[in-house]
Amino acid sequence: PGTKFGCGIAQCGACTVHLDGAAVRSCSLPVSAVGDGRVTTIEGLSEEGEHPVQQAWLEHDVAQCGYCQAGQIMSAAALLESNPDPSDEEIKSAMNGNLCRCGTYLRIRKAIKTAAN
Ligand code: FES
Ligand code: FES
Repeated sequence: PGTKFGCGIAQCGACTVHLDGAAVRSCSLPVSAVGDGRVTTIEGLSEEGEHPVQQAWLEHDVAQCGYCQAGQIMSAAALLESNPDPSDEEIKSAMNGNLCRCGTYLRIRKAIKTAAN
């Protein structure tokens, strides 16, 4: 239930989940492309919200309406998994496909920095 449907055409990132640890847009990924891959939704990121990215999100009070946030967190978690200390530019580039109509981008960047430390 945490994964959201937004645009349906891989443009907003609200539906982001992990496929074998990589961030993918579930709205436009056919089941046939998953194969034996492991799909992780926001519910599977941690048992009780203790993932460092989730903790940093709480610390910075990132969410506003919340609709985009599961996708934002999944993209951020995948970024830090592959790049534990990203620069501002790397964060911008990795998070580019995740839109937030509430404009929480600055808090997202701060939270990613906190989770990286
Ligand atoms: S719902 Fe917008 S990218 Fe999937
Ligand atoms: S928090 Fe409202 S769309 Fe991002």
